[in-house]
Amino acid sequence: MTNELAGLIRQSAHQLARAQVTSPQVDAELLIGHVLGLSRGQVQAAALTGRTLSEESAAAVQTLVDERARRVPLQHLTGRAPFRTLELHVGPGVFIPRPETEQVVQVVLDRLAQHGPPRPSVLDLGTGSGAIAAAVAAEFPAAEVHAVELSAEAAAWAELNLGPHGVTLHRYDMRELPEEWQASFDVVVSNPPYIPAEAVPTEVEVREHDPHLALYGGGADGLQLPRAVINAAGRVLKPGGWFIIEHAEAQAAALRQICAADPGLDEVTTHQDLTGRARATSARLRSAA
Ligand SMILES: C[S@@+](CC[C@H](N)C(=O)[O-])C[C@H]1O[C@@H](n2cnc3c(N)ncnc32)[C@H](O)[C@@H]1O
Repeated sequence: MTNELAGLIRQSAHQLARAQVTSPQVDAELLIGHVLGLSRGQVQAAALTGRTLSEESAAAVQTLVDERARRVPLQHLTGRAPFRTLELHVGPGVFIPRPETEQVVQVVLDRLAQHGPPRPSVLDLGTGSGAIAAAVAAEFPAAEVHAVELSAEAAAWAELNLGPHGVTLHRYDMRELPEEWQASFDVVVSNPPYIPAEAVPTEVEVREHDPHLALYGGGADGLQLPRAVINAAGRVLKPGGWFIIEHAEAQAAALRQICAADPGLDEVTTHQDLTGRARATSARLRSAA
């Protein structure tokens, strides 16, 4: 093991590449940055100026790189996941927020900006780390945001992330929301579990570290929970309110069909992520005639 930063980056990236980590160089720089309290850019700059590390820091880096080489998610090792403007607290027991979900938040924000009342109420079903709810609250401070989560472990992480943004967290099964929530929300958003039971993820980080409750949607098509979200939205949305749901690209047509077949819904729209994949669907609860 070297104490010279540039060499340590090279060695660490090489070890991670051998372990088939997808972005070995980035992960090596981020892990080193985590130990040194530096951003990735600062690590690169320090390497160029020939910085060296103490024995202690180099050993701490090696421990983290060994863990990452065993395919422990990067975010579990740093304890943080970037999400839109936020740095969320994450770790074992909670789903790591994904970049495509940032686009789901954008759809919510666009709907709020175009159609929302001055103080809209927003409900995030299956909030996990609280990513969607916290981002909406941070970027649309006029919204009153509520979040629902079933898992106690996930809820503990959500508390950390939602508290600073004034989001109210509720421990419920999204299939059994309280009666008194009927027709209460302007927007319902969800990134529910949606993976079909047989489609076990190949990525070790996902298969072994994301909670199963967060991954599998139920049923051969994985759509039991997504259907539950649509049902719940039909009950708790105000007439004219919107819901937005994330799903797999292969499920876009099915989701569109489910929404189009529901006489209570209109304005069914499929949304693409930044790579052009159909990864979310929105619809509006019809206003009373
Ligand atoms: C795919 S994760 C999404 C987490 C977060 N919204 C995000 O986008 O990063 C789905 C979340 O739904 C939660 N969940 C699963 N079944 C649920 C249920 N029946 N009621 C409430 N939450 C549930 C899981 O624990 C998990 O946190």
